[in-house]
Amino acid sequence: MKIAFFSTQPYDRTFFERENAQNEFSYQFYETHLGPHIVQAVEDVDVVCVFVNDKVNRHVIQVLAEKGVKVIALRCAGFNNVDLAAAKEYGLRVCRVPAYSPEAVAEHTVAMLLTLNRKTHKAYNRVREQNFSLNGLLGFNLFGRTVGVIGTGKIGKAFCRIMHGFGCQLLAYDLYEDSELKREGLRYCTLEELYAQADIISLHCPLTADTAHLINAASLAQMKDGLILLNTSRGGLIDTLSVIEALKSRKLGGLAIDVYEQEEKIFFKDLSNTVIEDDTLQRLMSFPNVLITAHQAFFTDEALSQIAKKTLDNVKKACSGRVAADDPAFL
Ligand code: NAI
Repeated sequence: MKIAFFSTQPYDRTFFERENAQNEFSYQFYETHLGPHIVQAVEDVDVVCVFVNDKVNRHVIQVLAEKGVKVIALRCAGFNNVDLAAAKEYGLRVCRVPAYSPEAVAEHTVAMLLTLNRKTHKAYNRVREQNFSLNGLLGFNLFGRTVGVIGTGKIGKAFCRIMHGFGCQLLAYDLYEDSELKREGLRYCTLEELYAQADIISLHCPLTADTAHLINAASLAQMKDGLILLNTSRGGLIDTLSVIEALKSRKLGGLAIDVYEQEEKIFFKDLSNTVIEDDTLQRLMSFPNVLITAHQAFFTDEALSQIAKKTLDNVKKACSGRVAADDPAFL
C-alpha cells in the first residue's frame, strides 16, 4: 500500500517508520500542505495521509479520486478540514484517529493555565538574568475557582478530572451529559450560566457550523471580568478580533491558545527569520497576558505512537474493505 503523507515534520517520519517495521507500506513524505496548489502532483498512491491544516475540499477530493486514491487518512481527531459530503460522492473513505491520548491534550491545557496564571515562563527568564524580583508575577489559587468546560468528550473529560484534583468547582456545557463526570461532582448547565459563573473557561468541543465563533463579542460580554480563556481545540471557535477587544478592555484577564484560526500559514514552521504579515497574530502576541503555543497539545511520545499505529490500522481496514458500520474512526 502506497501512502503519501502531507504536512510532515521529521517526527512524523520517525513514528510512522517505527510502525512499519515489516515494510507493509511504501511511504512518500511531503512537507507541503495538501491543497488545490499541489493535488495535481499526487501520483501512484492508494492513500493520502493528512493533518489538521491540509485543505481537503471538493476540488482536491475530485482530483484525488481521478488519480485513483482510495483513502483519506487523517492522522488527527478533528476533521473540519475535509469535505465529507464530497468524499462520499467520489467514493473515498475518510478515516481519523478519534482518541489517541486525550490526556496529552488535557495536560497541555493545564500546563498553559498554570503558566499563564503563575507566570513561570517569565520567572524562568528573570531568574536566568539574575532578576529575583517577584513584582508582576502575582497569580491566584486555582483551588475553589469555578472552571467552565465546553465539550466534555474525551479531552474535556480528562481536563475536568485534572481540574477536579486541583479542588476546582466544575461547570460544563455539552449536547450530551457524561454520567461519570456528574457522579464525580461536575454540574451541567446552560452556556449562559457557564459564562456568568466561570472564572476559567476551557474549550473542548469540535469546530462545527454550530460552534464556529462561539466565543464572540456577545458571549464575551456575558462572562466575568478577568476571565481566563483556554482554547486547545480549534482556532475557529474564537472570533479573534473580539477577543483582542476584550483583552484591550481588560474584560479578559488572560488567554491561552494552542490553536489559531489562521494557523495554517504559520504553525509547525520556523519563521524566526521571516516578516510575519498576520497583524492579528502579532497583536495577540503583544499582550503580556496571552500565551500561545503552536498546536503542540497532542505532542507527546505516547500520542505520536498511538497516532501512527491507529492511522496504519485504519488504512489496512479501509483497503481490505473490512470496516464495521459503527467504527468511530471512519467518517
Ligand atoms: P470528542 O468527540 O470526544 O468530544 C467532543 C465533545 O464536544 C463531545 O462530547 C460533543 O458532544 C461535544 N460537542 C459537540 N458539539 C458541541 C456543541 N455545539 N456545544 C458543546 N459541546 C459540543 O472529541 P475530543 O477527542 O475530546 O476532541 C475535542 C477537540 O479537541 C477536537 O474536535 C479537536 O478539534 C481538538 N483537538 C486538539 C488537539 C491539539 O493538539 N490541540 C489534539 C486533538 C484534538
